[in-house]
Amino acid sequence: MDAREPTRPDDLPATPFHVAIIMDGNGRWAKERGQIRTIGHKAGVDALKRTITAAVDLGVTHMTVFAFSTENWRRPEAEVSDLMGLLRAFIKADLARLRREGVCVRIIGQEDGLPRDIVGMVADAHEQTKHNSRFFLQVALNYGAQADIVEAARRLAQSARDGAITPESITADIFANSLSTHGLPPLDLLIRTSGEHRLSNFLLWEAAYAEFVFQDILWPDYGHDALKQALDIFARRNRRFGAVDPGHAAQPA
Ligand code: FPP
Repeated sequence: MDAREPTRPDDLPATPFHVAIIMDGNGRWAKERGQIRTIGHKAGVDALKRTITAAVDLGVTHMTVFAFSTENWRRPEAEVSDLMGLLRAFIKADLARLRREGVCVRIIGQEDGLPRDIVGMVADAHEQTKHNSRFFLQVALNYGAQADIVEAARRLAQSARDGAITPESITADIFANSLSTHGLPPLDLLIRTSGEHRLSNFLLWEAAYAEFVFQDILWPDYGHDALKQALDIFARRNRRFGAVDPGHAAQPA
């Protein structure tokens, strides 16, 4: 799952549009129905499939989703095992279709701790789809942004110790290229469902200039309409990237 090999195809659309989603609320969705949490995660996979289709239709070119965080190991063993099972089933049932539909799949996160067969399956999923360029699906699995940043810092420190680079030559771009998310366009929009307003150690570096949209909908209910609503909210935002509105650029003294 070392994602630092160059993977970004050259023929991506001229205007990439990168959306990330924290798919939250599976447990509450299941509880509302008197079901166990795994039923919510199962419905969450269906929502993910619907949302990928909707994203392609709505002009999104890159999507990063948070499937399992480094903190999710704290959940009951049975739930963790069911989540891994759902991932296996998702890859087995949907990889061929994703490949046919031009989706490039990349998994980011730490291999350590993951079941060995899953490590092999996600590597194979990337291998089979790496030349696709219609849509880029990045799945964060056993991922934590702080650990990713620490790993990048270690990598660069090692390069400096080896004499391959000098500390002074490290720029934000070089740092970004050392992260597991390297090669993707900047994050435009970060969505979190279920009414929670937290980043939860997701894409801390990448979200520097992203717009945040928080939606009350529980993840298993997500799909075309909810994504369209988030994109409409995004379209009304005024992104200034630290600058001022053009009309306010020349302030009188
Ligand atoms: C948060 O809901 C969701 C997760 C921790 C897992 C997200 C996973 C999926 C949508 C499906 C798995 C994805 C793939 C690619 C197979 P929660 O359980 O924290 O819900 P709660 O806050 O209501 O308890």
